[in-house]
Amino acid sequence: MLDIKITKTTHPKEKPQDESKLGFGKQFSDHMFLMDYTAGEGWHDARIVPYGPWEMDPATTVFHYAQEIFEGMKAYRTAEGKIQLFRPECNANRFNDSADRLGMPPIPPEDFVQAVKALVDVDRDWVPHSDGASLYIRPFCIATDVGLGVHAAKHYRFAIICAPSGAYYAEGLDPVRIYVEDEYIRAAPGLTGFTKCGGNYAASLISQVKAHELGYEQTLWLDGVEHKYVEEVGSMNCFFKIDGTVYTAPTVGTVLPGVTRMSCIELLKKWGIPVSEERLPIADVMKASHDGKLEEVFGTGTAAVISPVGELRYEGDVAHINNGEIGEITHKLYNTLTGIQWGKLPDDMGWTVKI
Ligand code: COI
Repeated sequence: MLDIKITKTTHPKEKPQDESKLGFGKQFSDHMFLMDYTAGEGWHDARIVPYGPWEMDPATTVFHYAQEIFEGMKAYRTAEGKIQLFRPECNANRFNDSADRLGMPPIPPEDFVQAVKALVDVDRDWVPHSDGASLYIRPFCIATDVGLGVHAAKHYRFAIICAPSGAYYAEGLDPVRIYVEDEYIRAAPGLTGFTKCGGNYAASLISQVKAHELGYEQTLWLDGVEHKYVEEVGSMNCFFKIDGTVYTAPTVGTVLPGVTRMSCIELLKKWGIPVSEERLPIADVMKASHDGKLEEVFGTGTAAVISPVGELRYEGDVAHINNGEIGEITHKLYNTLTGIQWGKLPDDMGWTVKI
């Protein structure tokens, strides 16, 4: 159990007036959570302080060797005005899996969740009121040693910031168009693909630039060894419904084990819809499209929620999915998940945690 010292701001910021214009991660709440780690001493100085910049030496490890990990979560306001989180212990556990791979110290999951709850409680007025908007929570950890030697640091800072946010994609629930990357790779066995480390995202940006130039919003990554099997989209896991079965890439080290991904699989199984986590060749996806059997494609993620995909482009071949309409299963998953998250549906899965 953390002993969290709380210092409230004396200059509260004005909250966003028009929640329809929030965008994603553009403005931040009044406070942030900080906690520091020193080897031999452990985590110390857990505190909630006014949100703002902090000073760092230019030789701080994270600037040079990218020893950094993060998480993405949301706090939702229910119609009765209650605030709730969605499966926060899953984020705490995944954070520690990332920490382990990056040689960083773990945080006891109960302390991680306590810190998130405490910050959201202090900033509860920042949780948006309107449909589809939520308080996006970004826990992250950076190496804070000062020096240019290459080694796992002995000092770290864990921080949590919060951003009242709307839809991740400007398209909202309109299908996004996706470019299948056939040159660069995002992950390979033994690397960091299963973690949420900033480096994964840094290395992916070149492909996003390429996709944008071609008029696509995001990149779908193929496996790093054979460039053959579908893995994930930049900020989402990806699902394909082909001839009645829903496929998604297995989480065997190269794909992020998404909390929304796992929740969708659990819901699909509960509804009796066949789900396959076998590796799926991109060639099979394109063939299914041409045979009229590619019924739905959608991405899942905390930020993106459930995002229908309307088009895939692979090596000059284009798959148009469901006439650019949101598919039935995609819609049902969206309604069920957001229904549970915003407290409009009973949480019979036991996924929500009240604050
Ligand atoms: C999330 O879905 O929470 C993410 O972290 C994805 C992205 C915005 C990097």
